[in-house]
Amino acid sequence: MSGRLPGQRVAPPRIAFDPEELPDGLLIADEHGRVVVFNRAAVRVTGLAAETVLGRPLDEALPLEDLEGRRWWQLTDPYGGLDIRTRQPERNLLLPGPGGREVLVSARYVRDVGCGPVRRVVVALRGTEARRRTERSHAELIATVAHELRSPLTSVKGFTATLLQKWERFTEDQKKLMLETVDADANRVTRLIAELLDISRIDSGRLEVRRQPVRLDGAVQRHVDGLVAAGVAAERFSIRIEEPLPLLWADADKMDQVLGNLLENAVRHGEGTVTIEVEPAKSVETSGRVREGTAVTVSDQGPGIPEESIPRVFTRFWRGSKRGGTGLGLYIVKGIVEAHGGSIRVDRGPEGGASFRFILPPGIPEVLA
Ligand SMILES: Nc1ncnc2c1ncn2[C@@H]1O[C@H](COP(=O)(O)OP(=O)(O)O)[C@@H](O)[C@H]1O
Ligand SMILES: [Mg+2]
Repeated sequence: MSGRLPGQRVAPPRIAFDPEELPDGLLIADEHGRVVVFNRAAVRVTGLAAETVLGRPLDEALPLEDLEGRRWWQLTDPYGGLDIRTRQPERNLLLPGPGGREVLVSARYVRDVGCGPVRRVVVALRGTEARRRTERSHAELIATVAHELRSPLTSVKGFTATLLQKWERFTEDQKKLMLETVDADANRVTRLIAELLDISRIDSGRLEVRRQPVRLDGAVQRHVDGLVAAGVAAERFSIRIEEPLPLLWADADKMDQVLGNLLENAVRHGEGTVTIEVEPAKSVETSGRVREGTAVTVSDQGPGIPEESIPRVFTRFWRGSKRGGTGLGLYIVKGIVEAHGGSIRVDRGPEGGASFRFILPPGIPEVLA
């Protein structure tokens, strides 16, 4: 026992800290405003050589400007100005010069006593690539969505306009064919919008899981029957259920979505027999607790996923083949499985094709467990 009194605080251990260990750029200016620390990450982020920065006054060494072109250090005046200020929140600033780099900058004014003079200015510098990447992926999302929506809508618009203008000139069969196309394209738009709504829920963590007891064997059979009714040969499917299956509480509609996507992919992107296995499996929860869950494996005998693409199959918009749809299916599948506390992976199947396997924990509500 340490003999410490209850409530007594322990001083944190002092560690020798090497600025090079910091993943972000770090600049420290002393009480005279001269740069005394400029780590390698700061060199990388700013593109400035350490020897041109160290020892020089802060505003000369790192001549940051805000987006309106005002000199940042003169504007914020860390060493003068109000002595109750302690920090500058993170801001997007520019380094003038041929590179014209954008840097995310935040600063802390270290004072000895509450309102004393500034002893040190500690500046964190981060690159804007990460933010750029998110912005770019949002822009990409919008471009893709616009493109995906436009083609079916163009066809809907074209056929309805033609039908309205020349209704009398078409035979019943021609009219029926056009209306069927309009119908299919309208379905495609509806589906795309539903997928996008799912994605926004997954991305914002708002995907709701309404749990109820679910029998996955019955659900698998229904999906296979549906695909057979839609014209896929019944011989292409092989279902294996390992009884007894553990009780599973899950969102029935969302399970349908997962199975629908995986089976459709196996039929569309895969080849040969599509094998669906449902069996009990150990499911490791995030808490580390192991429980008896349910595993579903959907495998086919097609080309499979190329080794180098495996890390990317579950990202949105990734599609490997020309026969691809929107490339959103597997992203949604993964989102739904994870929202259930489960996990999904893809491997090369025993016969070469793709083998998607997801494991769900029993999901029994606390009150019943
Ligand atoms: N069973 C499979 N066999 C081979 N490739 C597959 C299989 N399932 C998915 N893929 C590949 O993964 C990509 C992404 O799938 P998905 O997210 O469902 O999008 P989509 O089906 O709309 O293309 C597909 O375009 C395809 O290239
Ligand atoms: Mg798909």
